[in-house]
Amino acid sequence: MDNSFSNDVAVVTGAASGIGLTVARHFAERGALVVGVDLGERVTELMAELPGKGHHGIVQDLTADGAAADVIAEVVQTAGAPSILVNSAGIALLDPAVDVPPARWQATIDVNLSASFYMAQAAGSVMLDEGYGRIISLASQAAVIGLDQHAAYCASKAAIVGLTRVLSLEWAGGGVTVNAVSPTVVETPLGKAAWAGEKGERAKAAIPAGRFAQPEEVAALIGFLAGPDAAMITGANVLIDGGFTAV
Ligand SMILES: NC(=O)c1ccc[n+]([C@@H]2O[C@H](COP(=O)([O-])OP(=O)(O)OC[C@H]3O[C@@H](n4cnc5c(N)ncnc54)[C@H](O)[C@@H]3O)[C@@H](O)[C@H]2O)c1
Repeated sequence: MDNSFSNDVAVVTGAASGIGLTVARHFAERGALVVGVDLGERVTELMAELPGKGHHGIVQDLTADGAAADVIAEVVQTAGAPSILVNSAGIALLDPAVDVPPARWQATIDVNLSASFYMAQAAGSVMLDEGYGRIISLASQAAVIGLDQHAAYCASKAAIVGLTRVLSLEWAGGGVTVNAVSPTVVETPLGKAAWAGEKGERAKAAIPAGRFAQPEEVAALIGFLAGPDAAMITGANVLIDGGFTAV
């Protein structure tokens, strides 16, 4: 087994599906102790099945009041101080801008932005006490370009990039790096639902690489940013989009 993360406790949100689950597996295969957090109860079983010992899931709606602080307190108590946080919990609710219902706007901001901030705040405070930490949040290509029917989603992801910059400059001196990762469409349940059929084929054709990304490719990038070699990368929004935003 690769032991490159054997001294790490990694907290991964959205760990019951897609990118979060793949990231959790990536860290577990490299020796980290992984705590996965998700709304979905499956997270408990999925984390217990990861390679290595001690991984566990916390079933939690991260938009609930005080959820992030409770989760991090539980992690500290059961697994030790977290050294890695990956914010992957997210939703994509698509509506034409003129029709976005307030509840769907708010739900998007609550999960994609506010939950990521409160998790970073709770975990970052422990990391600063320890003098070391790595925080990586999933933004999206939607953070840097506009996408039809993605008003709430694009706004929430652009805000992640702004938040990442502020946290990075406040926490760099304390040994904590904070970065965002922005994939094009990734072939996960969320990605497949939002980009099915003809719309998906058109989107693929517009990507210079001619395809969507795989969750393992995103996990490998996050793994690099979470490692000791990435100490000088902070405040960045790293695109992983097959050249889509370079056109
Ligand atoms: N798949 C893509 O095409 C793509 C592209 C760019 C960015 N992203 C971003 O990557 C992240 C992961 O996407 P994915 O494709 O793996 O999605 P997914 O739907 O496969 O998984 C998201 C997970 O987040 C969990 N979640 C949702 N709301 C939650 C809440 N309130 N509390 C706790 N957990 C909650 C879900 O239960 C689910 O398990 C998201 O932030 C998404 O916006 C995805």
